[in-house]
Amino acid sequence: METISHDLIIMGSGLAGLRAALEAARASDGRLDIAILAKTQLMRAHSVCAEGGTGVVLKQEEGDSYELHAWDTVKGSDFLADQDVVDRFVHTMPGEVLQLDHWGIPWTRRADGSLESRPFGGHSFPRAVFAADKTGFFEMQALYDTLQKYADVTRYDEWMATSLLIEDGTFRGFTAVDLGSGTFATFNAKALIIATGGACRIYGFTTYSHTVTGDGMAIAYRAGLPLKDLEFVQFHPTGLVPSGILITEAARGEGGYLLNNHGERFMSKYAEKMMELAPRDIVSRSSMTEIEAGRGYKGPNGLDYVLLDLRHLGAHKINERLPLIREVTIKFDNIDPIDQPIPVRPVAHYSMGGIHVNIDGAAPVEGIWVAGEAACVSLHGANRLGTNSTAECLVWGKITGENAAKYAMARKARPEVPVDKARAEENRIMHELFQRKGTESIYAIRQELRDIMDSNVGVYRTEEGLQAALEKVKELKERFQFTALEDKGYVYNTDLVSYLEMENMLDLSEVIVEGALVRKESRGGHARRDYPQRDDENWLKHTLAYHTPQGPRLEYIPVTLTTWKPVERKY
Ligand code: FUM
Repeated sequence: METISHDLIIMGSGLAGLRAALEAARASDGRLDIAILAKTQLMRAHSVCAEGGTGVVLKQEEGDSYELHAWDTVKGSDFLADQDVVDRFVHTMPGEVLQLDHWGIPWTRRADGSLESRPFGGHSFPRAVFAADKTGFFEMQALYDTLQKYADVTRYDEWMATSLLIEDGTFRGFTAVDLGSGTFATFNAKALIIATGGACRIYGFTTYSHTVTGDGMAIAYRAGLPLKDLEFVQFHPTGLVPSGILITEAARGEGGYLLNNHGERFMSKYAEKMMELAPRDIVSRSSMTEIEAGRGYKGPNGLDYVLLDLRHLGAHKINERLPLIREVTIKFDNIDPIDQPIPVRPVAHYSMGGIHVNIDGAAPVEGIWVAGEAACVSLHGANRLGTNSTAECLVWGKITGENAAKYAMARKARPEVPVDKARAEENRIMHELFQRKGTESIYAIRQELRDIMDSNVGVYRTEEGLQAALEKVKELKERFQFTALEDKGYVYNTDLVSYLEMENMLDLSEVIVEGALVRKESRGGHARRDYPQRDDENWLKHTLAYHTPQGPRLEYIPVTLTTWKPVERKY
């Protein structure tokens, strides 16, 4: 088996990965051999789907402030965010937006040339800068274009990592398969940055691209790194029915209404002041309450919905500010939002949890950093505010890129890879799995997992539902041992990809469900019907999940509170 060697490898080519690569290339100025490895083609990373905007304090003269952005984020997090992390975030963001501006992003601007910004849920100031409703695409494009300047960055597109190689608490390398050829290889490097995104493809109704299956989180977990706060899944209030495609919160930021089947703006009952622009956990809980009370509309496959009405915004605003939304609703639902309201319901959208890292994005294994949605730096706590994720990718892409580059430059030799471990992994996948005969279908198991996650681990959860979900996940894990690859070829074997993704999704589902079952309170994205209140006395703490053969072992660590004590959230 070939060993491919670089100084620094970035796993994942979305916003966080590209920003990290750029910063590492800048900081090392030709002194490091850097590589980016990703399961997809570079511009197919899910970050290109980010729509509505990026949160930043740029307009202090108009009334915004760092303190206000920090407070909105902490209150939005239901007080589970680490406040030192939030403080660093809000102060670092303006530099990132200006940096992207210098790298050529076409921000939407005001007539005087300054950046336009719009309201988003849970933000008490309109601080989302944007590029129409294709913000993620243009951010990725600016980073990708700029990266072309750096000859010292090698790309491994369509390579999927299968395991991390760690020894003596230090990163040594990882194994990966080239999806185009079926070549299995070991990579080694002085430093690794994991930026592989979140895990919400374990749900059926989700805004995620099909590729986003929590791979980096899962291989880190199996290698002994703890996952933090994974039970906190964000349900975005407006997933298009029935596809789940994101209908950006900017639609409400620009003035859209949510309506029940009586034609009422029902948010007046739940968030009198902020209405449709309350944080996502509150709006999603409210929509589900309306739907469950029979005040929604009947949708296909049980996907009952409420309506998002943009008609009063008028054609000009919709075409100028929300062109993608119009295109998507016409193409997928044959609905033109200029004339008709859009059917929407809460949809799995974001993993607040991820690989446990410190404020610098460093994992508790020497030589590994994590950035973006794969990480849990504890910026979002129990509920992320819209626009803070693209922002987080930029901030911790920069921080981890710089820190990992410094570390790699300071280290003389690349580490020895544990060859026996790498060979065992090659044997497990390329020989045993390819030869295995099975009675179970990967795809049936995937569907059953998504069904149970959708029905029992959604916006509202109960002991009974979570217990049933846990039993189901354990049953699926057992049955997964009896699956086999139908395609025995090596070139673009999508059966193999599905198998590896499924292995990852099963492990992560177990962590989510177990964490949710044990956490007997309601906080942010985790709403228990049987424990409807937040319980700071017992649960103002982060969950850490460690892998064991029997399932996750849970531990807890405190939340960093520097400025604000938890109070009741009113919007
Ligand atoms: O609604 C949106 O445009 C999503 C933004 C986000 O998740 O930050």
